[in-house]
Amino acid sequence: MKKYLLKGLIASVLAIFSFGASAQSKLVINADHGKTQISRHIYGHFSEHLGRCIYGGIWVGPDSDIANINGYRKDVFEALKALDIPNLRWPGGCFADEYHWTDGIGPTSERPKMINTHWGGVVEDNSFGTHEFFGFVELLGTEPYITGNVGSGSVEEMSKWVEYINFDGVSPMADLRKRNGRDKPWNIKYWGVGNESWGCGGNMTPEYYANEYRRYATFARDYPGSKLYKIAGGANSTDYNWTEVLMRDIPLNMMDAMSLHYYTIPGSWGDKGSSTDFSREEYLSTLQKAAFMDELLTNHGTRMDKYDPSKKVKLIVDEWGTWYDVEPNTNPGFLYQQNTLRDAFVAAITLNIFNQHADRVHMANLAQTVNVLQALILTEEDKMLLTPTYHVFDLYKPHMDAMLLPALLSSDKVKAGRVEMDALNVSTSLSEDGTVNISIANIDPDHAIDLDVTLNGTEAKNVSGRYLTAPEINSHNTFEENDLVSIKDFEDYKWNKEVLKVKVPAKSVIVLRVK
Ligand code: AHR
Repeated sequence: MKKYLLKGLIASVLAIFSFGASAQSKLVINADHGKTQISRHIYGHFSEHLGRCIYGGIWVGPDSDIANINGYRKDVFEALKALDIPNLRWPGGCFADEYHWTDGIGPTSERPKMINTHWGGVVEDNSFGTHEFFGFVELLGTEPYITGNVGSGSVEEMSKWVEYINFDGVSPMADLRKRNGRDKPWNIKYWGVGNESWGCGGNMTPEYYANEYRRYATFARDYPGSKLYKIAGGANSTDYNWTEVLMRDIPLNMMDAMSLHYYTIPGSWGDKGSSTDFSREEYLSTLQKAAFMDELLTNHGTRMDKYDPSKKVKLIVDEWGTWYDVEPNTNPGFLYQQNTLRDAFVAAITLNIFNQHADRVHMANLAQTVNVLQALILTEEDKMLLTPTYHVFDLYKPHMDAMLLPALLSSDKVKAGRVEMDALNVSTSLSEDGTVNISIANIDPDHAIDLDVTLNGTEAKNVSGRYLTAPEINSHNTFEENDLVSIKDFEDYKWNKEVLKVKVPAKSVIVLRVK
């Protein structure tokens, strides 16, 4: 009797955690059918005055003992440079709607101090301001994306900030900029009009915000040589009504894009879950929540299509990523969390989805760059580490500005408890030099998957590959062991006549390049 019970128990445990056995998965790519370019800006980033993102993460000041270039952390700068990041959003986030830019210019010692009420109630000394931000993006060779203050600012304040940054002539703001040591304007393009105006940015209704947007956007001027790309503050997650009202009430010629925010939270707002300690069912349900981005983009896109079928107004997902409980013994307002192989899959799945929606999605910004939420980089005093998420952005670099290729995937399934998903998740693109890029995530923790790839419409045959995996789904890098999760060369593929046979390792992200 006992024996049967035990057998039954084992059978039901296996049924609950039955990560799929390997069958034949197939991917068919049409390399001559690309129509849409994947904007490099989809691979963008976000740095807010929040916790240790700016202070300690990017900026330590020129007098710091930590190695720096004019105050910018050298190690962090080098890591971001290597990633070739296309843009950086600043100064928030919720912080943007309480930031008064004039506090952050002029001699550092004379800048007023304020309390960062949103994020930990710490003193913000404004030592990192407009000039310091532009100094960093210039050093990186990346595009700045500024979010202006609508919530607690004024039309005049935002209008003057644009003048200060972009006007090359005689005017009060251009003169002030020159007196502060910068002769030429920065000529920036990307300009956000407020942040989360439905929440921390002012708790507005969409009708009210749409009217405000029209006023703010009118006085955010296009100066000679710098036409602004204006971004309306868009919806939170499934708030489709917000999108509908903005599309209806804002003339299409007054906005270039609308933003969207969506975070992947394993639990609830009150109990989000641990970054490193999770069950297999939580692992898979987190990835399922990340994959929800596809439905979101489709549904917001449908509302936009109604008013803008030619897709002139783009979507900018300027905040996305995982959000867990903060690490024990850290300031709850600093949003500091670890980053495991699970986060790498969230990044891989989300970036694949953005690629597939490249006709509408022009930009996306992972939240956030250093030490906050799903960070690329973590620092502790003078130590730093690259997270698994960083490595996914590194692997996916070939997709930037490549042509999206249509592809058909049939995949094995993976199951844990009540959650079932396709084990494989892919996107494919064609680089200018004719190289086909194939990014593949196998989220099955236990089984390698045999994948047959058929490439139509190309003679390309030379394959190279790189991949990311780790011993466990919660493996992560630490300051003591900082390359447990890192990229390796991938060689487990071979041609069988016209079919490229790939053995995709369990819990891995691969990028193959076929030339
Ligand atoms: O990224 C952290 C915060 O999340 C941002 O400040 C805000 O816009 C969002 O709610």
